Amino acid sequence: MSTPSPDTHLPAIHLRPPRNWINDPNGLTFHDGHYHVFFQHNPSGPDHAGMHWGHYRSTDLVTWEELPVALAPTPGGDDADGCFSGNAISDGERVLAFYSAYRTDRWWQPIATAESRDGGLTWRKHPGLVIPKPPDGTSMYRDPYVWRQGDRWRMLVGASVTGERGAALLYESSDLEDWRYRGPFFTDGPDVVTAADGWTGWECPQYATFGDRSVLVVSLWDAVAGPRSTRAYVGGEHEDRFVPTRHQPLDYGPDMYAPALLPAPDGRWLLWGWSWEARDGQWSRAAGWAGVLTVPREVSLTDDGRVHQQPAVEVLGHRGRKLVHATGWSSTADLGTVGSAFDLTARLRPGSGAPGGLRLETTDDGAEHLDIVVDPIAGELVVDRDNASLDPRALKGRYRIPLSGQRTADGSTDGSADGSVDLRVIVDGSIVELFLDSGEALTLRCYPTGPVPWRLRTFGAPDHIVDAWELGTSGRRNRFRSPEQKVGQP
Ligand code: FRU
Repeated sequence: MSTPSPDTHLPAIHLRPPRNWINDPNGLTFHDGHYHVFFQHNPSGPDHAGMHWGHYRSTDLVTWEELPVALAPTPGGDDADGCFSGNAISDGERVLAFYSAYRTDRWWQPIATAESRDGGLTWRKHPGLVIPKPPDGTSMYRDPYVWRQGDRWRMLVGASVTGERGAALLYESSDLEDWRYRGPFFTDGPDVVTAADGWTGWECPQYATFGDRSVLVVSLWDAVAGPRSTRAYVGGEHEDRFVPTRHQPLDYGPDMYAPALLPAPDGRWLLWGWSWEARDGQWSRAAGWAGVLTVPREVSLTDDGRVHQQPAVEVLGHRGRKLVHATGWSSTADLGTVGSAFDLTARLRPGSGAPGGLRLETTDDGAEHLDIVVDPIAGELVVDRDNASLDPRALKGRYRIPLSGQRTADGSTDGSADGSVDLRVIVDGSIVELFLDSGEALTLRCYPTGPVPWRLRTFGAPDHIVDAWELGTSGRRNRFRSPEQKVGQP
């Protein structure tokens, strides 16, 4: 009997359950010395159905332990068709989760709660709903986000309000039980509505404060295309309303959605997003899994008010053997080979104003390749996956980050005074996360068909310094201990 070949599209260090479906990160909280990452999960198949909350925890953000499913739909209950997204707080001895109770026979998802007094291993749902109905004038309603501010608890809920605009609705409570509606915290304006057709709504609003500045993160959903992209508003508050001064995509790639925040005990804001599949559903069903979470990212604000993201420093703990160290200036330098999971840093300076960059060749003849191009003329970095898979069931496309974030005092649009761009790329099976030093992030999925080793080259003669390390092999790796090995069933 032949052994099935390993699925090289499965990530080695990114979080996802061993099988089946995952979407949004939920309930991110630090409690009892552990970072807890819950997530939308269908334990019975690789499709979005009958959503549960899966659960991982970690003391160091590197070694993860899989715990029993935390929340499951209650037959006949308010969440009979799914425990949809929400967050959780550490409140003394307990973890209190707020989630969206889903039933197919109503259009809104009221807010439900559940608590755990043993560090998230077993859960008790509170009877009834903390917010049974949305306010008038709402046409979509789900995804609570609860946080402590001063002497009160606050909650945002994702919605669409009259005028077909995305909205984050604000509630307030002193005891986490009685919640008073305070009105829309912020709604999308006509100038920034992004839906091509149909109406828009906001899912999974998240909120991070940095002194008197703050960031509201929303996921844009529209009635025709469904989930689309993410946006971060930077601003401050005035009389319980959020007042933005600017906004930007939180992620410039096509495959990152529903990001969620975790306030870490050391004061950092950490963020995970959901990266969906960019291949046809039949393929992922045959593979038996779909979806992955991004690496944990640290989110901060720059002095000039831009959102800055980098992989959390702990991600360095996954690095193993050094695979590549190359410097030089040549049109097609061969930088060396890598496996299907690696972490790369590069400084690129395209020569004579022409586009240049890195190419990851994943077949021997180079026909299959992913390109990362610095285009100094257009002033952008482009990630091109048009040729990244020979399998026609994989999605294609080119995605851009404007390099304006890298503008220097002398007005050049490059990463440093000498015109170079610094970046980091984490490739793990089928997920690629790219970070510019200036703080922009781009996530996409690609599905190489060629066997490892893969080859890294430059093209367009950029001046370059490139280093790459293998990920999760000889370095520390995620441990996916099964629940039975570690703890009893709830
Ligand atoms: C976002 C989302 C949420 C919802 C959950 C359902 O991806 O649609 O709005 O609560 O996923 O799985």
